[in-house]
Amino acid sequence: MSDVAVIGAGYVGLTTAACLAHLGHRVVAADIDADRVERLNRGEIPIHEDGLPELVTEGLESGRLRFVVGASVAIPDAEFVFLCVPTPQGDDGAADLSFVERVVREIAEHLRPGSVVINKSTMPVGSTRTVQRILSEEGASIDEIGVASNPEFLREGTSVRDFLQASRVVVGCDNPATAVRVSELYAGVRAPIVVTDPASAEMIKYASNAFLATKISFMNAVANLCEAVGADVNEVALGMGYDPRIGFEFLQPGPGYGGSCFPKDTAALMHTARRAEADFPLLQGVIDGNREQHDRMVAKARRLAGGSLAGVDVGVWGLTFKANTDDVRDSPAVYIVGRLLEEGAIIRAYDPAARPDAVDLPGLTRADSALEAAKGVGLLVVLTEWDEFRWIDHTDLADAVLVKRILDTRNVLDAVGLRRRGWEYEGVGR
Ligand code: UGA
Repeated sequence: MSDVAVIGAGYVGLTTAACLAHLGHRVVAADIDADRVERLNRGEIPIHEDGLPELVTEGLESGRLRFVVGASVAIPDAEFVFLCVPTPQGDDGAADLSFVERVVREIAEHLRPGSVVINKSTMPVGSTRTVQRILSEEGASIDEIGVASNPEFLREGTSVRDFLQASRVVVGCDNPATAVRVSELYAGVRAPIVVTDPASAEMIKYASNAFLATKISFMNAVANLCEAVGADVNEVALGMGYDPRIGFEFLQPGPGYGGSCFPKDTAALMHTARRAEADFPLLQGVIDGNREQHDRMVAKARRLAGGSLAGVDVGVWGLTFKANTDDVRDSPAVYIVGRLLEEGAIIRAYDPAARPDAVDLPGLTRADSALEAAKGVGLLVVLTEWDEFRWIDHTDLADAVLVKRILDTRNVLDAVGLRRRGWEYEGVGR
């Protein structure tokens, strides 16, 4: 069992720290937010993540997990230091590495000989080398301190499961002995381990997210074509998914992808391609197609409302970027609601998890339940695929609305049943 420091107790850092403690390592997780650290040490989890509260409690009670303020405090005993700080999107689309740089400069002098600094946050190709360079600028001996890339493949909402039942563990490192040591941290996870060079490890992360985004944009394009030719995209996805080369996952059409990863990572990969003077029109098409998909949902709403949204009461179901998270960052729902408001719609929105102050759109009213959001509306718009929307009682819903008209951008409702009950129903690609 090893001594591990995790720098940054956000969604990636917290999951990494709690899971490594669960696997038996002694973990110190650092954050700059003293209030957050205090709450974490009491077992209070600031994010909505299945299974995480239990693992944090287990770690705290066993003494294998603790939280401290400041990176340098976490370092002295650590054999492995995971960097899990934000890499936001800069103005030019590139990932902004200033948090990473600040942390590396802060910890350099505290690192013990033989320790390994591991990039866990999504960082552009070349970042492992950048970390190496900063460490040597700060006087750390490169012969004594290893640096590796170990990208995460965690989905929000299922990050604990994605960590402990990983599809694969990728370790990018020039030094084979260091790569083996990093791999051994995951001995309790039964997953294939891909050991490679740092640039390839970094590219694996970006290419994986870009490929998944491509699958979604592709299916959204197929959905639009289905509408034009009278096919049902759900049937098409089913028939395609049985081919193991295609698979069922990420074939679900919708309002376009969002969240804190796909939009940022596709833009960053595009930036990398431009800098390398390597053309990547396919990826640009995926990015453009995604924004067009958001806008297509606005056009559908306008059309359903009879050509204009001005003064129309609209009920909105869902604000998070997907179900089972409270995260609204880069949420297609928030973008679409913003556009509907701009066009003069009067909106009452319900989301089971998004915090009341999470979405700051002038004129937006929040409702406490799905039925309350639907009350008296001329149009209902489903923007996130929360399960509770699937099971809503159609009689209660019909009683609540003014006009039985629905735009289901996630294809979660029973289109046939609703149409039979006299609803004007519009989905995506069916
Ligand atoms: C994504 C990846 O799935 C993770 O593997 C990766 O580690 C993570 O980004 C990251 O880079 O940190 P996440 O952003 O949590 O995870 O969300 P996903 O479940 O991948 O969904 C992303 C977006 O695609 C959502 O807006 C979702 O609604 C949309 N989506 C997903 C579809 O529109 N259709 C689908 O079939 C699947």
